[in-house]
Parts: sequence; C-alpha cells; structure tokens
Amino acid sequence: MTTLNLTINGRKHGPIEVRDDLSMNDFLREMLGMTGTKFGCGAAQCLSCAVIIDNPDGTSYTTPTCVVPAANFDGKAIRTVEGHAKDGELSALQRAFIDHFAFQCGYCTAGFLNEGQVLLELLAREPVARDQLETVIADALDGHLCRCTGYIKYHQAVRDVILADANRYLTASK
Ligand code: FES
Ligand code: FES
Repeated sequence: MTTLNLTINGRKHGPIEVRDDLSMNDFLREMLGMTGTKFGCGAAQCLSCAVIIDNPDGTSYTTPTCVVPAANFDGKAIRTVEGHAKDGELSALQRAFIDHFAFQCGYCTAGFLNEGQVLLELLAREPVARDQLETVIADALDGHLCRCTGYIKYHQAVRDVILADANRYLTASK
C-alpha cells in the first residue's frame, strides 16, 4: 500500500491509502468518482486517459493514467478535464471544441482538451511565428487517437483559440 497526497484541480486530496498496483485511472474514476478521465486502450497508445501534470516551475505536460500507478502521482499537482471550467464558465478551448463540433462520441475529448491546454500554456511562455503554428498544433496533438476521426476539427479549434489571442501566443514578426 502507498499513502497518496496530491493536488487535483487545485484541491488537495489525501492522505489516501492505495494499493501499489492501482492505476491512476482507477484511482480517479473509481475512488474519486472523477469519470471525466476516460479509459480507452489501456495500453498507453490512445491518450484518451491523459491528464495534465503541473511542474513546480510553471511548466506542464500530459501523461497517460491507464498504465501508470496512482502511487507515482504522490506529491504531484495534476489537472483533469473537470478543472477546465471556472465558476461555471467554459474555458476558451472548451468553447471552441463545442463551436467546431470537434468531438463526436467524446471519448477522446478530455485528452485532446488537456493537450490543447498544455500547448496554450507553452505558447504563452514561448510564442511561435504564425507560419509555424500549423506544425506546432499538429505536433502537440499527435499521439491522441480519435476513433471518430475528429482530428481536423480539434486542430481547427485549437488554432482558433490561439489566433483569437495572437498577441499572447504568437510572435509579433509574422
Ligand atoms: S487509455 Fe490510456 S493511453 Fe489509451
Ligand atoms: S470523438 Fe469519438 S473517439 Fe474521438
């Protein structure tokens, strides 16, 4: 058994005793009832189960939860799909996903949303030129599988959010 203490969407959880072989996905879904994080392939291939990890230095990245023990998240700060809306208001990215009908069955959506959010935060720290943007978005979303093949709409939605706040996400030169 491992004693877990972690922060999820800004809220502290723990101490909670978990089995060493309990996956993070089962911890979120079965122990905390946070079912927004999906379970797809169960083999670290589709990233539908990805959550955001916040580093102490302000950087962030996504990680799958299906094959990673919950114990590995002890002491970490993470964000899940449940953390995007604030005070009942959808985030710009959530709104763009809806505006583009980016998701169909929705199974992959939380993973794409988390990945898109990480990209926005990266670009806010390190803006890119406009002519790099398509590649940057494609690279960021690469690895997330959508069985309903909604790739283009997800890409367009992320692009819309970036272009709507270009001063923040893009360099001034292009
Ligand atoms: S369910 Fe975790 S990567 Fe597919
Ligand atoms: S919307 Fe169905 S898997 Fe992506």
